[in-house]
Amino acid sequence: MKTLRYAHSRESIDKAIGYLREKEWVRSDARFNPDAEGGLRGEIGYRDYDLLLMLGHTPDEAPAVEGALDLLREHGLIAKDAGAYDRDVFLDMRKRIAGFDGAWTSLSDVMERLIYALTAARQPKVLLELGSFWGYTLAYFAGPAIGPSPEYRAERIYGVDINEAMCEKARANFATLPNTDGVTIIAGDGRDVIDQIEGPIDFLYVEAKPDDGSEFLYLELLKRYYDRLAPDAWIIAHDTTARGHLDEMVEYLPWVRDPAHFRASICFDLDRYGLELSIR
Ligand SMILES: C[S@@+](CC[C@H](N)C(=O)[O-])C[C@H]1O[C@@H](n2cnc3c(N)ncnc32)[C@H](O)[C@@H]1O
Repeated sequence: MKTLRYAHSRESIDKAIGYLREKEWVRSDARFNPDAEGGLRGEIGYRDYDLLLMLGHTPDEAPAVEGALDLLREHGLIAKDAGAYDRDVFLDMRKRIAGFDGAWTSLSDVMERLIYALTAARQPKVLLELGSFWGYTLAYFAGPAIGPSPEYRAERIYGVDINEAMCEKARANFATLPNTDGVTIIAGDGRDVIDQIEGPIDFLYVEAKPDDGSEFLYLELLKRYYDRLAPDAWIIAHDTTARGHLDEMVEYLPWVRDPAHFRASICFDLDRYGLELSIR
């Protein structure tokens, strides 16, 4: 079992601390201390909430994602030549997705690019996002297979959300993009719609959580879909290092890091929210 963690380079961290100094969010003599317990304005630990905000929107976004792909290559989790997504196609998609009508998102710039790059590297035929909201996260997840210049062809792309109004919005948003015939938005509880999903799922994206935090759905959903996953499926779960979701992760993370369930699991610790990729 490979349990890996990938974080920003020291150079990006120092740059982000420079912005915090400029904004006077930290003292002018503040320095990075990887061992700092956090919260101190003169010594900044990696879990510092403001540092993670800056790192999620770092100008080093592209090299950070390249480093993440390199880590997967080094560990034999993707082929040496996989993950060479087209930077210009990505930026064009970003412009188009920015035009989507919707509410807020917690997806940082780095995560947008990472999720897009992971799909480009894996090239899944069947993609499913549980908790697809107004389509923003799904558009990055499915990005390499949709839009004016798809990087590959997927067979089916599903988004599921319990909120019907958000599903309507997602459908309208996808209608603004070319090559989205394969996208199906299903309004329903992710636990109940499994029979509407056709074929082994190559790439599953878990985002479903009730607004009031009344239920922890990630592990329940993953267990429900586990037998429907392709033998070499990938799963991403967003918000795995996020404040407000840590209790949910107490069960989810050990389960995906158990070699009985996945052969590798990687924590992309790149912003306030985090993303865990688990590979079957
Ligand atoms: C708030 S979104 C996640 C947002 C995401 N982190 C982002 O940055 O855009 C979580 C979604 O999960 C959906 N959800 C909650 N319970 C669900 C369930 N049982 N099945 C499917 N979707 C569900 C909610 O309706 C909501 O749209």
